[in-house]
Amino acid sequence: DDISRIRNFSIIAHIDHGKSTLADRLILATGGLSEREMTHGQVLDNMEIEQERGITIKAQTVRLNWKAADGETYELNLMDTPGHVDFAYEVSRSLAACEGALLVVDAAQGVEAQTLANVYQSIEHDHEIVPVINKIDLPAADPEGVKQEIEEIIGLDASQAVLASAKSGIGIPDILQAIVDRIPPPKGDRTAPLKAMLVDSWYDPYLGVVILVRVIEGVLKKGQQVKFMAAGTTHLVDRVGCMRPKIEQLPELAAGEIGFITAQIKEVAETRVGDTITDAKRPTATALPGFKEVQPVVFCGLFPVDAADFEKLRESLYKLRLNDASFSFETESSAALGFGFRCGFLGLLHLEIIQERLTREYDLDLITTAPSVVYRMHLTRSKKDATSGGRSFETGLRRGSVPPQDEREGESGSGGQIIELHNPADMPDPNRIEMIEEPWISATIYTPDEYLGAILKLCQDRRGIQKGLTYVGSGSHQRAQLTYELPLNEVVFDFYDRLKSISRGYASFDYEQIGHREGDLVKMSILVNEELVDALSMITHRGTAEARGRGMCERLKELIPRHLFKIPIQAAIGGKVIARETISAMRKDVTAKCYGGDATRKRKLLEKQKKGKAKMREYGNVSIPQEAFIAALRMG
Ligand code: GTP
Repeated sequence: DDISRIRNFSIIAHIDHGKSTLADRLILATGGLSEREMTHGQVLDNMEIEQERGITIKAQTVRLNWKAADGETYELNLMDTPGHVDFAYEVSRSLAACEGALLVVDAAQGVEAQTLANVYQSIEHDHEIVPVINKIDLPAADPEGVKQEIEEIIGLDASQAVLASAKSGIGIPDILQAIVDRIPPPKGDRTAPLKAMLVDSWYDPYLGVVILVRVIEGVLKKGQQVKFMAAGTTHLVDRVGCMRPKIEQLPELAAGEIGFITAQIKEVAETRVGDTITDAKRPTATALPGFKEVQPVVFCGLFPVDAADFEKLRESLYKLRLNDASFSFETESSAALGFGFRCGFLGLLHLEIIQERLTREYDLDLITTAPSVVYRMHLTRSKKDATSGGRSFETGLRRGSVPPQDEREGESGSGGQIIELHNPADMPDPNRIEMIEEPWISATIYTPDEYLGAILKLCQDRRGIQKGLTYVGSGSHQRAQLTYELPLNEVVFDFYDRLKSISRGYASFDYEQIGHREGDLVKMSILVNEELVDALSMITHRGTAEARGRGMCERLKELIPRHLFKIPIQAAIGGKVIARETISAMRKDVTAKCYGGDATRKRKLLEKQKKGKAKMREYGNVSIPQEAFIAALRMG
C-alpha cells in the first residue's frame, strides 16, 4: 500500500450539526454499506443510548476506499468523535491520529461553542481543515452568512467550503475529493521499528478488548509480540484489521494506517489511551509524547432503592466499567441509604448516561445523591496529623482502583495537610479547616441577543465573573459571545438545563477547567423531622447557602407526602438553621375526604400508595419517595 494514497481525517461539529449523518453518507457513497443497512440508522452510533440521545459517545473509526478524480483508489480513514464537552479528551486523542478534519457547520445554525473548542484542538494538531456547510437543503440555510462566520470567528479561509446536505446526499463526492486534494497524506517509514499509538479501546463480547491504533512507523502484524511501553506489558497480537464499518481482518497495518488489533486482553483497564505500542524484540528508540489520565470531575453516590440489589449494582458497575475506564466507583455507606457506591464521572452528562444505563439495561432502581465536585481542604496543623502517618494513594483509575475519599495528602502553605474531598458527608470538622479551594472553569456561551439579559443574570447568580462580551456574525446570524469564569460547583447542578431553557435551546455552552481557587464554602445539611438526610448534604458558597437551603426546603415540602404528624424540614449550616418549612399533618381519612364515594378511584389511590411504598426511604419516621431526592436536587 502506498502511503501517499492514505488520508486520515476526523469530523468535527457541534452537536446536531449532522456529523453522524454525514459519516453514514460517506460510508454509503464508498460502498461500505448498502442503502438497506443504512436505514437502520446511524451506524457509527452503536449504543442504544447514543441513538436515543443522538450523542456519539465512543470514538469509532471506519475505512473507506474511494476512486478519486485521478483514477487512483485512496484509503480514507474516518474517525468519528464525540460531540459533548464531557468527552473532550476522546476528541483530542482521535485528532492526534489524523492529518486533517472536516469542519461541519449547520447552514442554518452557524458556528457554535462546541465547534470552536474542537476546531481549536484540531488547529493545535496542525490539521488541514476542510469546512463543510451542511443542511443547505433547509429553507433557513444561509451558506454565505455561515462562510463569513467561519472566517470571522475561527479565522479559516471558507472560500473553498463545500456546500452539502448529508440528509439528501448533496455534495458528498465533492467532500471526498476535497479530502484527497486538501488533506495531506501521513508521513512514516514502514521499515523503521514499530511505533503505534493506542488511540482507543473497548470491550467487545466476541473479540474481547479491541484496540484502535494509528501506526506511526513500521508494521504491525498478526502473530507479532508487542510491548505497551507505558504499561510495561507484552502481548501477542492475534488479530489485525479495519472496520468498513464491518470488521475485516488484514495481514498487517503499516506506517500511516489506522486500524484495530486484538491481543487476548481481558479488560479495557489494561490498556492506556495514548500509550506507545512497539515490537517487543525490535523496540522503537523513543515513545510517543504520552497520554493523559482522564480524571473524574463530578462525584455522586449511587444507592440501590432495594438494599438487596447492592451486589447486582456492584456487578453492573463492573460490567459498565469494562467498556468505560473513565468512570470510577468505590463502596460507600450511608447511615440512611445503607450500602452503595461513590462514583466519579467526567461531567454531568456522563453521570446521567451511566445512571440511565444502570436503570435501563440493568433494571436497577437507584437513589442518586447530590453531585459534588472535588474540593481541596487545607487543614490546620494538629497533633493528630503528626501521628496519622504518610498514607498515600495512586490515582490509578485505569487500574481499577480509585483514591479514597479524602486521604490524598499534600502540604499546605502553612505546613498543614491538604485533602481532596469527593463527598460532602466526609467533610472534616470546620474547626480543622483553614481554607477550602474549589475548581473553577472558563465558560464560553453563544446566544442570540434576546436571551443575553437572562443568561447574564444566570451567570451572575452562579457567582460568575464576566470576562468578555462581543458580537459575532451579522444580520439574523448575529450572536453574543460571552466568556465567564464560574465555580464548577455552580455548574454541576443544573446550569446547562437552565441555560437551554432560558434560551429556548438556542444558547450553546462549552467549558474548560482552569484550576482551584479559594472559596467561602460551607456544608449545608438537610434535616427532615430532625433527622439528617445525608444524601442531600451539599457543599455550597456561604453567600448562596440560604437561597439554596430555602429552595431545597420548599421543594421538599412539595415532594414529601403528608403524614399523620407535622414534619419540620430544615436546612442548617453547622448547628445553625438557615431555612425551615413545615408539612402540616394529614387529616386521618384522606381518601374519604378527597374522593367521596368513588370506590374505584379510592382503590386506585390506595394501590398507588402501596406501590409507592417500595420506593420510599424512611427518615425520622418520614417516608420520602425516591423521586423526591432527584427532584430536590434540581435547583429551581
Ligand atoms: P451528535 O452525534 O449528537 O454530535 O450529532 P451529529 O452532529 O452527529 O448530528 P446528526 O448526524 O445526528 O444530525 C442531527 C440531526 O440533523 C438529525 O435529525 C439529522 O437527520 C439532521 N440532519 C443531518 N444532516 C442534515 C441535512 O443535511 N439536512 C437536514 N435538513 N437535516 C440534517
